Amino acid sequence: IGAGPVSTVINEAVRDADVLPERIKHFPFPFSGDIYRYSANVEPSRKEVSTEAGAWGGRLLHIDEHYLAELKDRDEVLERDPSRLQVLPHMRPAVWDAICTLLPALAEEYPDTVSFTREGDLCRWRNSLQNLDVEFTVGDDSSLPMGPLRFLGSQIQDDLVFLDHRQDALWLDAGVVTFAADWSVGFDVGMKFLEVHHPVPRVKEEKIVSRAEQFLMRLQPGEQYRRTNWTLTIDRRLDTSTETYPNWAHDRMTIADDPALPDRLHLRVEIQHMIRLPHSGAVLFMIRSYLLPLRDIARVPVWRQNMGRVLAELPDDMAEYKGIIHYRKAASDWLLSA
Ligand code: HEM
Repeated sequence: IGAGPVSTVINEAVRDADVLPERIKHFPFPFSGDIYRYSANVEPSRKEVSTEAGAWGGRLLHIDEHYLAELKDRDEVLERDPSRLQVLPHMRPAVWDAICTLLPALAEEYPDTVSFTREGDLCRWRNSLQNLDVEFTVGDDSSLPMGPLRFLGSQIQDDLVFLDHRQDALWLDAGVVTFAADWSVGFDVGMKFLEVHHPVPRVKEEKIVSRAEQFLMRLQPGEQYRRTNWTLTIDRRLDTSTETYPNWAHDRMTIADDPALPDRLHLRVEIQHMIRLPHSGAVLFMIRSYLLPLRDIARVPVWRQNMGRVLAELPDDMAEYKGIIHYRKAASDWLLSA
């Protein structure tokens, strides 16, 4: 033991892990084997997961090196297209509930960077990364000039979706979603959870989505769970919403033959948190998207092999739905031969 090719690979991986950049060390690599299928895959939040390169998931909210750039990106998307923010009138209390849940959570996790204080309904929020010092009154929309949901979306990198719980179902009734992976919050607002998932193959037959809805409807106030989802994205482009389809969809037809594929093609992983908000009773669904180019994935030998095999094995209906069918073989071939 110790002299064979397997141990050589592992030793190289361990040596390399010491010098890997942060973006790889904290990347939430989603595959634990060579096969991927849909599942409800929920687990309690804030449980740190070790990977071959480092670890992720110790916090609810994560400020990384892209914080300012991603929030600028969100702001520009909302300026161009205000329909990415939707709040049906009965969801206003849920938005305030989210502000009073997430800002203190961020302050607890990053006390040197942001702070939140509250006396009665008067709150003060300071954010040293944005040079921001702002006071507002809980429940008073006019106390935050840009509006409460846009303000919350300007402080954290996650997209936010709010689900109302009524008539024994969940309804997508509010959200600020600028970084959707090929869907649209403007289209989905007002829909039931099951309707939102209608385009997804397999999940109806396998009862995954109905079980997920039952699980979410049973969440108790304050409870927090999470899951991951993944797809592939060409270039470091967070806004792949249906609205901008003409800007990005064509690349999917040409990337397979592009010599720059390993640098342009990114594994996109969403860490999705699900929280029952304590006062409004709404379910908050948070989507935080991470992008890592294949070139970086390949620096971790186990990741390279797992992802290469997952892409090769993925059934066509899932590859088609994810929009990767035209180039998943090229990606898999590169990973397995890199
Ligand atoms: C897509 C499952 C929670 C909104 C999907 C997909 C799966 C899934 C398997 C397909 C993903 C892909 O192939 O890339 C689940 C499960 C959940 C959950 C198991 C909870 C345990 C939620 C919540 C929302 C949501 C709370 C908020 C309403 C969406 C949307 C899509 C999606 C908008 C894209 C649908 C489209 O193509 O139009 N979900 N999901 N999901 N999910 Fe969920």
